[in-house]
Amino acid sequence: MTLLRSDASHAPPQAPWHGLFERLLAELDRRSLPSSVRSPHRGETRVSAGGGTMRNETGTATHDPSVGARRRHLPLADSAEGKESSCGDADGDLAFLDPAIYCDPAHFERERQRLFLRLPLCLGHIDQLASGSALAREICGVPVLITRARDGEAHVFLNVCRHRGARVLPEQETVCRKQSLACPYHNWTYRLDGSLAGIPRAEAFPDLDTAQRGLRALPSAVRHGLIFAVLDPEAGPIDAADHLGGLDPDLDAIGMGRHRFYRQHTTRRATNWKLIVDAFLEVYHVTRLHAGTIGPFFEDSVSAADPVGRHLRYLVARETTNEIRTLPAERWSPQRHATMVHLLFPNSVIVYHPDYISHLGMFPTAADETLFVHTMLIPERPNDEKAETHWARSFELMDSGVFNGEDLVVCEQIQRGLSSGANERLVLGRLEQNLRWFHAEVGQK
Ligand code: FES
Ligand SMILES: [Fe+2]
Repeated sequence: MTLLRSDASHAPPQAPWHGLFERLLAELDRRSLPSSVRSPHRGETRVSAGGGTMRNETGTATHDPSVGARRRHLPLADSAEGKESSCGDADGDLAFLDPAIYCDPAHFERERQRLFLRLPLCLGHIDQLASGSALAREICGVPVLITRARDGEAHVFLNVCRHRGARVLPEQETVCRKQSLACPYHNWTYRLDGSLAGIPRAEAFPDLDTAQRGLRALPSAVRHGLIFAVLDPEAGPIDAADHLGGLDPDLDAIGMGRHRFYRQHTTRRATNWKLIVDAFLEVYHVTRLHAGTIGPFFEDSVSAADPVGRHLRYLVARETTNEIRTLPAERWSPQRHATMVHLLFPNSVIVYHPDYISHLGMFPTAADETLFVHTMLIPERPNDEKAETHWARSFELMDSGVFNGEDLVVCEQIQRGLSSGANERLVLGRLEQNLRWFHAEVGQK
């Protein structure tokens, strides 16, 4: 099977992830030293803390004690009871989370209003929709209709009929081929560009301005193949490049726009959306929870991250990371020599596996329920049975075995235990720095 080189082979020498690789190597070097030679800085446990190093866009390491001190004063997340609202503790290496941020309905509603109805959300990859198709999905309580018209252009609408408000297309798991959309109630019919195409017994609406009765569009944009939309029809247009900011070059270098849709699985899970994001922002659990699946491919808790605006670029060391020592930097692959993860704030996680990409959308429906959408993107369409079998097995392993079979099971367990009273606060250690950053971002006004 021939695979398109979708990774760092074409990346410029100073690829966006270059600095992260250097930090991974430094940490691996540090770990290979006998403990008596390691830096005594802040004690022995400090040595493994490099596994969670994080820098801001100016390259400032957050393990710098002064930065840690500043970070402790960031708003972490609004406490439902208005109690503790910042992270931090006596020695600066621990942070604490109020369980209410995951289960309080009023807290969730504030997040919905402040984040999910305001920020551009990544709804998926355009290759999922052939020209002349549509997908209906309720996103965070908003009925959304994504179409791709015959000219290939993607549109995002409210899935609400302009007659009396019925759902134009019933929600379903998959894309359906359509030339037009007929509302089931009275059969008002719309073109895929949203315009109103026909009204049965039109003489009953003598003065209706039908040009004004097209489907209500949501601000949307496609960049690098990713469809972004704001769930508010009154919001202004989206500048997707601006929204992606410093991650825009990553997606270009990795060829996200050339990737093809392979398969998608949507499932409602009984967990807060942030618990799922948390699971993808730390590697502390990977060799443990995933010991029987992907764990053996990874170093134990070696990672480095750069906040990029409100997004995050995160690189996790694999067993292959040491191989880059003998390679020129332009051949350091964030897929084969590590696993790169992007958080597109607030609710998209992109995982760059060795030969394919997983896009994970966490779309909350309640404080304790999330629509989890896993989309597998591959470098080229499978052109024979062997390739099809390969991708099908990869999807099954990652989607059923790892994500739904391991990560999300734990997220649901955590959700059920939150109100048990066992933990007044949840504790984050040095290897979970990304969560500290993420919850501070979520809590920002
Ligand atoms: S509500 Fe859609 S046609 Fe009447
Ligand atoms: Fe995991």
